Amino acid sequence: MKAWILPAVLALALTGVGSADNHEGFEYKKVATPHDIMEMVVKPSMGKINAMKKAGGPANKKEWKTANAAASIIGEASQLMLLGGRVKDDAWRNGANEVIAAAGKTMMGAYRMDMESYSAGLEAMSAGCKTCHKVHKKDKDKS
Ligand code: HEC
Repeated sequence: MKAWILPAVLALALTGVGSADNHEGFEYKKVATPHDIMEMVVKPSMGKINAMKKAGGPANKKEWKTANAAASIIGEASQLMLLGGRVKDDAWRNGANEVIAAAGKTMMGAYRMDMESYSAGLEAMSAGCKTCHKVHKKDKDKS
């Protein structure tokens, strides 16, 4: 390999290609506030999960699909919390990353209709919410 090739490849890997904010010529631009992502995306999705949980579910294939979708949207929304300069500190970054990882686990549990791993995923997801909320959600309700 010519001496210049390796640095060139590394430089490519570190710049535009694969950057979270710039895919295929599209540049991410922040539109929604964190509050609006919470209120309009995360809260209703968590609401669906909690409603099924209250009823002892997910109870059937359709509900497991809904559970999977809700977890996926919460994971996606948590990625938004990391984009567009929204990150404020480590609690923010760690909380969002915890939720993203746990959403994946929750989705896998839902896909397999496996209550045990699904519930474990949900618990980890709530822990991620708390990591960020402890610092950034000022309400009395720290869930
Ligand atoms: C990266 C940080 C972060 C993570 C992770 C996070 N939140 Fe939030 N959340 C916030 C912030 C900041 C607010 C306060 C927004 C405001 O009112 O300005 C908030 C507020 C909320 C609210 C109140 C919204 C309203 O209608 O006033 C709910 C509900 C909520 N979060 C649910 C969740 C759930 C459920 C999770 C986990 C699945 C979660 N959040 C994860 C940052 C986060």
